[in-house]
Amino acid sequence: MTISVVIKNISELTTNDPSLGAGITGRLHDAAIVIGDERVLWVGPNASAPDADEMIDAHDSAVIPGFVDSHTHLVFVGERSEEFEARMSGARYDGGGISSTVTATRRAPKDELRGATAKRLQELRSGGVTTVEIKSGYALNVEGESRLIDVAREFSDEVTYLGAHVVPPEYFNDRDGYVDLVRGAMLEACAPKSKWADVFCDRGAFDVDESRAVLSAAKSSGLQLRVHGNQLGETGGVALAVELDAASVDHCNYLSDHDIDRLCASRTVATLLPGADFSTRADYSSATRLRERGAVIALATDCNPGTSYVTSMGFVLAIAVRDMHMDFDDALWSATLGGATALRRDDVGHLGVGARADVVILDAPRAAHLAYRPGTSLVRQVIGA
Ligand code: NIG
Ligand code: FE
Repeated sequence: MTISVVIKNISELTTNDPSLGAGITGRLHDAAIVIGDERVLWVGPNASAPDADEMIDAHDSAVIPGFVDSHTHLVFVGERSEEFEARMSGARYDGGGISSTVTATRRAPKDELRGATAKRLQELRSGGVTTVEIKSGYALNVEGESRLIDVAREFSDEVTYLGAHVVPPEYFNDRDGYVDLVRGAMLEACAPKSKWADVFCDRGAFDVDESRAVLSAAKSSGLQLRVHGNQLGETGGVALAVELDAASVDHCNYLSDHDIDRLCASRTVATLLPGADFSTRADYSSATRLRERGAVIALATDCNPGTSYVTSMGFVLAIAVRDMHMDFDDALWSATLGGATALRRDDVGHLGVGARADVVILDAPRAAHLAYRPGTSLVRQVIGA
């Protein structure tokens, strides 16, 4: 039997459904929402809320859809704080530290990997994330990548095969051999258990031709595509993502005007990763250029031990607003429905009737407190997923 729950006395309800309320956030004030059977059943004014089996009193707090974190590398062990310290003292990020995480992750027993992933997922959830994409990419051999994907699948349906993260040391003298492995035996082992394939198409990782070879093979194996592109230079990752109809191209720090034109004329979402930009002292200006031209933007944590050991979507929003100059409502949309769009999902990231009942009750009267009060935990209750 379905138990329905009404959440009453919501000071500010963000639905992301413009048919329900004002602006792109579909905002209502003094509102209520009814959920049941894991779906949104009703949304409207508090005064006309229907009865339900149970009631949650929001006590004049804001409610938002659960965050959709469309880019994480959660399955790893170890940490790289020394690399962060060196960067803060002037060292550049070139992806070179990835191999130390690979060494540690290859050695870790499965239980340890599972425990480390569960802990990070719990951190994400306590900050309001209800949908999370998880990539492999820290084993870089057939058995290891397959194992990381098995662990990721225990926690999410949005699992991404990232065998093409970097070339591992044992293939430094045989790049082509590694690309063949990634699009051959490794793909064969991982594709049936994954939904997505991703490639780090950038300096120090894979060039456009290598990336195209991997992504085309992945597409033929039935995977949908995403790309790490243009983080370290104008390296062609955005053009490739658009060419292959990838759902998203992520990082996007170096964009030509042509890249932005391509994105605007495509279904490929530009995913920005403020945590990575923060931790690598990267330039934040792509956001303004993308916004001026009307590109669809998602925001995600990119949680990983190298460039963004970040599990707080509140932190991501605060940087997006302060340093990327995004309006708060646009940033909130990008971290919820934008993330859903980057995963080609229409059932999450909004609270329209019929959506998944992934609901976050904040400890604040307005959602904007998430950026206004950075560093404070403002999530009171997470429902769903
Ligand atoms: O998204 N840029 C490539 N991959 C990760 C970083 C991985 C690492 O440094 O461990 C990222 O930033
Ligand atoms: Fe990443």
